[in-house]
Amino acid sequence: MWAALEPIGRDARSGGYRRFAWTDEDAILREWFAGEAGARGLDVLEDRAGNQWAWLGDPDAHGPGVVVGSHLDSVPDGGAYDGPLGVVSSFAALDALRDKGFRPSRPLAVVNFGDEEGARFGIACAGSRLITGALDAERARGLSDVDGTSLGEAFARSGRRLEHLGPDRETLARIGTFVELHVEQGRGLVDLGRSVAVGTAIRPHGRWRIDLVGTANHAGTTLMADRDDAMQAFAHLVKSARIAAVEHDGVATVGKVQVTPNGVNAIPSHVTAWLDARAATEDQVQAIVADVGDKVESLRGTVTEESWTGATPFDGTLATDLAGLLDDVPLLDSGAGHDAGILAAAGIPAAMLFVRNPTGVSHSPAEFAERDDCHAGVDALVRVIERLAG
Ligand code: GLV
Ligand code: MN
Ligand code: MN
Repeated sequence: MWAALEPIGRDARSGGYRRFAWTDEDAILREWFAGEAGARGLDVLEDRAGNQWAWLGDPDAHGPGVVVGSHLDSVPDGGAYDGPLGVVSSFAALDALRDKGFRPSRPLAVVNFGDEEGARFGIACAGSRLITGALDAERARGLSDVDGTSLGEAFARSGRRLEHLGPDRETLARIGTFVELHVEQGRGLVDLGRSVAVGTAIRPHGRWRIDLVGTANHAGTTLMADRDDAMQAFAHLVKSARIAAVEHDGVATVGKVQVTPNGVNAIPSHVTAWLDARAATEDQVQAIVADVGDKVESLRGTVTEESWTGATPFDGTLATDLAGLLDDVPLLDSGAGHDAGILAAAGIPAAMLFVRNPTGVSHSPAEFAERDDCHAGVDALVRVIERLAG
């Protein structure tokens, strides 16, 4: 499975992946998923947001079932494991269970959530947010990529029915429990010397768009005193985000920026930047954003919230039960967002398994997992499925 996935959407220069929602690469990944499902005799259903569900057994007749899986899309120049490790491990776990002669008492599915990273249209976990109603379908349709293509256009061009985009009660009713296996995106397991952990919670986080306005003018003839330069305001914004994050013991990133007119010899007339802020508590995140907001106001800019995910605990009983089942693996919370968190927030029992990442690096080509740890993750998933669907 890794060999088949390896070339899809790989950037030759960076070595990282560019697998964005509703692109050609995404279509190839979806075909790969359907092929793997078909080869195992699973029935692939697509929900109203285009998430793929490969079912063993009939969830409508005998559900709700147990669902495992993750996503296949990536951030720009992302690693190979964020998302795909969960999907590949899920298929591998089903293979191992089949080889053992396991007969599930409930339907089982592997899911491929679409647009988890929000790399193209800006909203992370768009697939799961859409089916749970956390993302309004009307708003989603209008989200635009950098080239001005809307999510609605891209969805329709992929051959899907735009009028179907939206909450999907039928799909949600099929999920008894969702377990998402994911590469760890920090050093928790490295520091503990363990290969697998169970997730306890997703830390609160959000994304904000910041618009800063200047006045376009000639780079050679405009005196410094006469300039109204949106890029200078941007520099203050970036600095204020770091200061606010340190002050409130959280993290803040300005990782995406668009400059208008984006010419070497033209003073920028407009900068749009995106702030990603996260912390242990919602109050801390809001304090970071308030401080940045004060700075932006002093720069005559505007701040618009694009997405917000509150503190999301996973089902505590389930997490403790699974950690015990897996020979007392550690419990870790997550600074990253996941579809499992969106489902948990919608009231669906959800859990996560994390697999050690020796580099501790993620959203980068340096993301990694050793083969033995990947196998330990599959073994853990096998035991979890046996517990939940045995
Ligand atoms: C998803 O990976 C996120 O940005 O948390
Ligand atoms: Mn990610
Ligand atoms: Mn992920």
